[in-house]
Amino acid sequence: MSSSKNSLANKSKAWSGRFAEPVDSLVQHYTSSLAFDQRLALVDIAGSLAHAEMLAAQKIISKADFMAIQKGMAQIEKEIVSGRFDWQLALEDVHLNIEARLTKLIGDAGKRLHTGRSRNDQVATDIRLWLRSEIDLILGDLTRLREAFLNLAEQHANTIMPGHTHLQVAQPVTFGHHLLAYYEMFTRDAERLADCRARVNQLPLGAAALAGTSYPIDRARVAKTLGFDGVCQNSLDAVSDRDFAIEFCANAAILMMHVSRLSEELILWLSPRFGFIDLPDRFCTGSSIMPQKKNPDVPELARGKTGRVNGDLIALLTLMKGQPLAYNKDNQEDKEPLFDAVDTVSQTIQIFADMVPHIKVNQAAMEYAAEEGFATATDLADYLVKQGLPFRDAHEAVAHAVKRCVEKDCALSDLTLAELIKACGLTTKSKLITQDVFAVLTPKGSVGARNHVGGTAPKQVIAAIKRARTALKKK
Ligand code: ARG
Repeated sequence: MSSSKNSLANKSKAWSGRFAEPVDSLVQHYTSSLAFDQRLALVDIAGSLAHAEMLAAQKIISKADFMAIQKGMAQIEKEIVSGRFDWQLALEDVHLNIEARLTKLIGDAGKRLHTGRSRNDQVATDIRLWLRSEIDLILGDLTRLREAFLNLAEQHANTIMPGHTHLQVAQPVTFGHHLLAYYEMFTRDAERLADCRARVNQLPLGAAALAGTSYPIDRARVAKTLGFDGVCQNSLDAVSDRDFAIEFCANAAILMMHVSRLSEELILWLSPRFGFIDLPDRFCTGSSIMPQKKNPDVPELARGKTGRVNGDLIALLTLMKGQPLAYNKDNQEDKEPLFDAVDTVSQTIQIFADMVPHIKVNQAAMEYAAEEGFATATDLADYLVKQGLPFRDAHEAVAHAVKRCVEKDCALSDLTLAELIKACGLTTKSKLITQDVFAVLTPKGSVGARNHVGGTAPKQVIAAIKRARTALKKK
């Protein structure tokens, strides 16, 4: 350990006064957050300016000091944006780097900036400011994605596909209806994020290290300057609370789970075994060995990346679970998982919002598949019920008919009326089944019949799209 180098490094530290020996260089690396918190630089400056403005308004610092701080910060911002800022690992984190540079540029006024403040309330403010604008960006892309689902659903309100349960053909549904299921999921995600944003948007500054400050500060003023809805109500909580980050990650994990389910379906539908859709080449990649391959990498990666967001959530929950009040250095570990969750979600939603409008639908393949697997068997049972048969008996009768069709390797609608009646174990005399049965045996008849709010009928799909568009416009 080169102690002369270290003691030099220590001298420049904001807190080194009471230290008898320099910080070990490994410890310096270990404790520094500079590698990842640099991305908070611009919000850190915004927070500092709002704080300084309030200090001046409250006559805690002079107006001249505030003006010097403003000038210095403008210069620092330029240096950071242009990549010329000289970041120093020895200065530990983004906050101390900026403060040191400010002091170098403007002298004592720079040293007064930290009056009535601590890095504890400063960093909490920075993360909230940063996360707030990221949430807004994600919400914008989420709106684009939701609109894309509505547009595609509108084009396919009448397109019929097999609906599955247990990944076995269950009943025909319209593709528009299927797409609207994702619209619902992503709408809940947007609601959750907007709800989370309200709790993110509370100002910690003023809590100082943990107990508040003895200066006559005006927290409401700072909150207003920075666009916060209010101030955190308890100083101990303000510096130690990371619920807002956990909440974001929980919402992000649910959102990614939805993306992952969608991805799984896209991957299946793209497989030639289904052949329901195609994606433009620009969203796919090839294989380095198999020349014929076109792989759905985007949905596959999104499915994979869902795991890391789940990991980010668990990391933050675990980070917080053992911490006594108030701030602990553990909290420095909040940034990487949060940044990772934000980056993953925002990239994913951007790409999906770009990709979903360009999903090419093979309508014929969907409709052909909807004819398979006795998808309208329930409709036949419902038909018999409407003719007076108890549902369980109708179920049994249709099960027999299906069995007969499996033996004959044909569809229910391939049977003649007489064959169908016989296959159901009924007699012509009973008059329970007549020629009009064939209308309900078609996928089109089946989906059209499910004509109630939340049902798959094309009419309902159109109505749901209309409701959704009105709701989207209101926001
Ligand atoms: N880099 C620190 C963090 O990310 C800033 C707060 C440091 N506070 C302290 N008391 N050491 O949490």
